[in-house]
Amino acid sequence: MLFEFFAPVFIYAHVPYSIGMGIPSWPVSGARERELLEEVLASEQWGGYHPIVARFEREFAAFQQCRFGLSAMNGTVTLEMALEALGIGEGDEVIVPAISFISTATAVSRVRATPVFVDIESDTFNVDPRRVHEAISPKTRAIVPVHFGGPMADMDSLMQVAGEHGVPVIEDAAHAHGSEWNGQRAGSFGVFSSFSFQNSKVMTAGEGGILLSNDETLIDRAREILDIGRRKGEGWFFHYTLGTNYRITALQCAVLIAQLERLPEQNCRRMRNVNAIREELADVSGLHFQRVPRPALAHTNYLLLGWVDGDRGAFHRNLTAAGFPCTPFYPHTLYENPLYRERHNCRVMPCPNSEARITDAFWIPHRALLGDEMEAQALAAAPRTAAAA
Ligand SMILES: Cc1ncc(COP(=O)(O)O)c(C=O)c1O
Repeated sequence: MLFEFFAPVFIYAHVPYSIGMGIPSWPVSGARERELLEEVLASEQWGGYHPIVARFEREFAAFQQCRFGLSAMNGTVTLEMALEALGIGEGDEVIVPAISFISTATAVSRVRATPVFVDIESDTFNVDPRRVHEAISPKTRAIVPVHFGGPMADMDSLMQVAGEHGVPVIEDAAHAHGSEWNGQRAGSFGVFSSFSFQNSKVMTAGEGGILLSNDETLIDRAREILDIGRRKGEGWFFHYTLGTNYRITALQCAVLIAQLERLPEQNCRRMRNVNAIREELADVSGLHFQRVPRPALAHTNYLLLGWVDGDRGAFHRNLTAAGFPCTPFYPHTLYENPLYRERHNCRVMPCPNSEARITDAFWIPHRALLGDEMEAQALAAAPRTAAAA
């Protein structure tokens, strides 16, 4: 049973080449990564103080239409830094969706604040702004929407709710490199936004993350936390706050500059293939794909999300048997994870939509969407057969 559940994850995580249908492997790299890596290797600074780090921060921030970037070890510590820089801690509440990767919630717990789990919309998989509104209390100090799978959460409604209550928004944009809401890029709405460059993300250096902000004071405060209390322009051995060392390396930033150059074309290719797959499968009864509202149409397709009526286990088995990578969603809501199951130090709002999606949803990883157009036609055949079986 367990093997059955994890088999596709295991198999696809370890096979470096395309299988059967010509599904590309991930991550991808080329001459550009090597060229930039050589540049760093030839220098005497491989760590976080090479100028390529600041260059990557500028380029990525500009790409997401933000003023300032602060790159870090990963997209978990960036969330923690954002909360800490805002002074959020014990006795404070932070609203998070019930469906996300665990870091969205643990970042809140790590600064000793209380995560408040709120339901998603059943079809967009993104946090429901009406449920966010209901969850706000006098203790609420931040709202952390996740742009789940790539399409952005409803930023008009979320910014309105946040504004009405004077609560900052921190975007968890770990899936949203290049995603837009009404033409405005992910990461440029919140007081902070956090991106991940972990191995499975649409641009990667194996590990890595970046915090973005339009507020220089806030980003400087986060930089002080990241750089062990040092201050810009002050001496190496002068530490002003109780920080730590979350610095990224120059080697990672070299890779990330090359990955960023490749991202727009890959985002387009994924979108073309997803459109072809969704069109091809539109008439399959019992198979539903994530609803993408019009303002969110430009996005990464980090995950092709959907859900099935009936037997998800059979759907998943048939799909993976056909050589098509598929994950039968998270095994639980965030609050049913062992860490929060006993409801210690968290608050849980009613989450019927999240609980329903745990039982019937699936995702297809973005690398399966990077083939050429001919392959997209072939790819669509597998879910059709799987749904029919
Ligand atoms: C929504 C979300 N937030 C945060 C993270 C944490 O990022 P990292 O793995 O870089 O720590 C991830 C995934 O890895 C994620 O999917």
